[in-house]
Amino acid sequence: MRDLRPNDLLAWYDLHARVLPWRISPADRKAGVRPDPYRVWLSEIMLQQTTVAAVQAYFLKFTKLWPKVEDLAAATDAAVMAEWAGLGYYARARNLLKCARAIANEHGGQFPSDREALLALPGIGPYTAAAVGSIAFDKPETVLDGNVERVMSRLFLVETPLPKSKPELMELAAGLTPGERAGDYAQAVMDLGATICTPKSPACGICPWRDPCRARATGGQAELPRKDRKKPKPVRLGIVYLGRRADGAWLVETRPERGLLGGMLGWPGSDWGEDAPVDVPPVQADWRDLGGEVRHTFTHFHLRLAVRVAELGADAVPDVGHFDTRFDPGALPTVMRKAYDLAIDQMAVRAE
Ligand code: ADE
Repeated sequence: MRDLRPNDLLAWYDLHARVLPWRISPADRKAGVRPDPYRVWLSEIMLQQTTVAAVQAYFLKFTKLWPKVEDLAAATDAAVMAEWAGLGYYARARNLLKCARAIANEHGGQFPSDREALLALPGIGPYTAAAVGSIAFDKPETVLDGNVERVMSRLFLVETPLPKSKPELMELAAGLTPGERAGDYAQAVMDLGATICTPKSPACGICPWRDPCRARATGGQAELPRKDRKKPKPVRLGIVYLGRRADGAWLVETRPERGLLGGMLGWPGSDWGEDAPVDVPPVQADWRDLGGEVRHTFTHFHLRLAVRVAELGADAVPDVGHFDTRFDPGALPTVMRKAYDLAIDQMAVRAE
């Protein structure tokens, strides 16, 4: 049986690396082209909890609007939050801006390569520090994301369930990390996990590590990594109110900085709790329930929102929120966008 060698994976990556807008191809990298740490950092923040497919368009838009970290640092909070809408986990966008401003103001516009200095920046934890250190600066640091966890669990036949196995997986992954081509290697393991060593039916026949893979030798690779059963998420209920004036202005609110969807645009509404929500409209009007509900899942709970709509008078003075005459539904986070889509559908039907 062949030994487990990082070089076998690197040789595979030379041929099969995914082409991604933030990535330097292995050939260019060998020719001395270096990745821009700003682009590496931006992509890694966007990729946390979001798929590569979903991130690409956002990445291209951000780097077009803000090609350098100083440009992003100079952007308004509202502009960045609006462009982030749809990517989810909005605290990431707030930290993204804080980090860009720290780089621009305290680091002369240059990302540090040092792990401790990276970890001191807003929104940069051990994963991102290792990703930036390895991909942008070729430091032999070890990234451990979901893909890498799966690959390591299988290669080394780790039967301990996640998340308990994380320290062991980290140690195994670190033991394999080569001193040379660390950036390519980090991305190669991620690509392997994303394209070959996939969760349900891994394509072991074309895997560069098929021979040394211990799970494959047992035939049980698809059952790894084992996972501790998660507690079911609770269901929370709420109401949102979508009011529109005859001039087309919508009644919206900017959500408080702290808390869920902080700093994002949203609809006025009730608190979200496990009990029936309290019906307190933001302004007196003939509110009509749309019947259907909006469903959305957050990290810790499922949300079900009743949607109420009303046409508001020109003289309406709301207790909560403000009228937006240049409303852009694209600036709404996904759950609020779902409510808008439901409402606009029904309002259009009524107008016909
Ligand atoms: N997932 C997270 N970071 C990635 C990267 N740099 N390349 C591919 N997939 C990734």
